[in-house]
Amino acid sequence: MGMIILGIESTCDETACAVVEDGKKVLGHALASQADLHAIYGGVVPELACRRHIDMLIPVIRDALQQAELRLDDVDAIAVANGPGLIGALLIGITGAKGLALALDKPLIGVNHVEAHLYAAVMSYDKPPPFPALGAVLSGGHSSLVKMHSIGSYELIGQTIDDAVGEAFDKVAKILDLPYPGGPNVEKLARESQSDKFKFKPGQVKDHPYHFSFSGLKTQVLYTAKGNGAKKDAPLLIPESDKADLAHAFQDCALNDITRKIQRAAEAYGCQSLILGGGVTQNRRLRELLADINLPCYWPGPGLSTDNAIMIAGLAYHQEVIQGSERFELAAMTRIPFA
Ligand code: KG4
Ligand code: ZN
Repeated sequence: MGMIILGIESTCDETACAVVEDGKKVLGHALASQADLHAIYGGVVPELACRRHIDMLIPVIRDALQQAELRLDDVDAIAVANGPGLIGALLIGITGAKGLALALDKPLIGVNHVEAHLYAAVMSYDKPPPFPALGAVLSGGHSSLVKMHSIGSYELIGQTIDDAVGEAFDKVAKILDLPYPGGPNVEKLARESQSDKFKFKPGQVKDHPYHFSFSGLKTQVLYTAKGNGAKKDAPLLIPESDKADLAHAFQDCALNDITRKIQRAAEAYGCQSLILGGGVTQNRRLRELLADINLPCYWPGPGLSTDNAIMIAGLAYHQEVIQGSERFELAAMTRIPFA
């Protein structure tokens, strides 16, 4: 047996636990999604998320160990995503992880959730990607481009100055009365249209060619759908038949902007591969657009795009362990700067 790490994820609205050997081999993974809980509110309600994490943390740990056919004693270290995320949600995972580390007298490893999204793609392939690589994290909370010198060595190139791309998908879904979670539903509707009836402009940030801004695009969609200056809960003014065209125009504008910036950043920073992570990498249109890029692309494997604990237990293998009383100093960080 190699090094067995039990990893915990509770940064937002999924409670998950994974048992992973040597940073790669998944022995067990349990995930309790809270999508149903937040659906009626159209977004994550932090207080409800925390309560559900408390209920589900021990069941997912038990389930992951059972799948791995291992006992807690067989685990070599406990890893936990200690940020970025919702403060209350983070504290529940971290407190659980500290409790396990104390009871079992095992080392603790704090993992950056955003870095783990990139590692999810790395661990999905037999061979490591050629470095330096361009990492693109495209999720509900982040839209960042980083130069990856190696696993664990990052340089921030660009990030969103307002909404994350997944957040923009979710907000557009709300405008169009599509169910939560919005991203997959906007993609599904967008597939029904090929029309260029609507055209939007992507957000550009002065003097920062690799930064993103999706808030203005969301407002263009809102005003087109509900009238100039309309509030987001105003009634739709466009006919039902135009909704797919609008979803299509939004999606193409956002994803073309991302693809262009990725291409330019990869060239400017001499990157030899592209590593993608985060929930938005499930989007098939994004995968089609990036198929034309002249670089090997590394995508997260099935189930590894959205939040999970496999990427946490996996990345932890490459990080330093925290021993002894220092374990209990590990803090929850709602924001962690890249690198
Ligand atoms: O990585 P993730 O699970 O959570 C964060 O760490 O934020 O990403 C969730 C985000 C949501 O905003 C969701 O709408 C978006 O990923 N998403 C998609 C698709 N699937 C999930 N966005 C566009 N197209 C999709 N197919
Ligand atoms: Zn995430």
